[in-house]
Amino acid sequence: MNLSHSDLNGLHVAIIMDGSGRWARMRGLERTEGHRAGVETVRRVIAAAPDLGVSTLTLHSFSSGNWQRPPQEVERLFGIFEDFLFAEPTLWIGRGIRLSVIGRRDRLPASLLQTIEYAESATGGCRNFHLRLAIDYSARHAILDAARRMNAADTADSEAEQELFAHLLGQAEGEAVPEVDLLIRTGGEQRLSDFMLWESAYAELYFTPRLWPDFTGEDLSEALKEFHLRDRRYGALATAV
Ligand code: IPE
Ligand code: IPE
Ligand code: MG
Repeated sequence: MNLSHSDLNGLHVAIIMDGSGRWARMRGLERTEGHRAGVETVRRVIAAAPDLGVSTLTLHSFSSGNWQRPPQEVERLFGIFEDFLFAEPTLWIGRGIRLSVIGRRDRLPASLLQTIEYAESATGGCRNFHLRLAIDYSARHAILDAARRMNAADTADSEAEQELFAHLLGQAEGEAVPEVDLLIRTGGEQRLSDFMLWESAYAELYFTPRLWPDFTGEDLSEALKEFHLRDRRYGALATAV
C-alpha cells in the first residue's frame, strides 16, 4: 500500500469543526461568539488527543469557500486565529507540539501570516505531536496545485507516482501529506466540503450532531472507540476470525 504516513507513530485524526455559528445563534449571540467559544474546544481536543493515541491532528479552521461569508465574520475569524496562534506556542513548546498551517497563504492578511510564521518557527523543533490548522484550505486547489507541479517523467509506476504526488501535495508544508485515519465532522452535516480529499481516501468517517463548541475530550474518546471497532480492509478481504 503506497500511503504516506506521518513520522509520528500515532493516528492522524482530522476534524471539520462545524456548528459554531448555529451554537451562537441558538443562544441569541452573534455567530462570531460561537467561533470564539470554539477556541476552547480546540484547546480541549489538543489536550485530550495524545492520550488517545493520536499524534497528528488536522483541524479545519477556514475553508476557501468561507471567503463567501460576510467580510466582518471573516475578519473576526482571522482575529481569533491570530490571538490563538500568538498565545499558544509557549504552551505548545512545553508539550512538544509542532504547529503547521496548511492552505493558501497568498490571500491572508499580513499580520495573520506573520503570526502563523512565528507559531510555526517557534514550535518547529517540537517532536511529540503534530498540530495542523487548515486556513484558506481547499483540497481541490491543493490537488490541482500539486498536479501542476507533477513531472510526467516521474510517473513511471503508479506506486511511486502516488508517493511523489503526496510529497508534492505537502510541498507547501515541506513534507508529505499524512494519510487520515479518522475524519470527524461535528455539527450534523454529512459531507466533506472540499477537505482532505486525497488524504482521506481510506479514512474512517465519523459524523456527530454535536455542535463544535459543545464537543469535549470525551466525545473525541467516543469517536476513537468507534474507530477501533471498524474493520479497515483497504479493498482486501476481512481478516479471518
Ligand atoms: C464552522 O462553523 C467554522 C467555520 C466555517 C469557520 P460554522 O461557522 O460553519 O457554523 P455553522 O455551520 O454555521 O453553525
Ligand atoms: C466547513 O464548514 C469549513 C470549516 C469547518 C472550516 P462549512 O460550514 O463552511 O461547510 P458547508 O458550507 O456546510 O459545506
Ligand atoms: Mg457550517
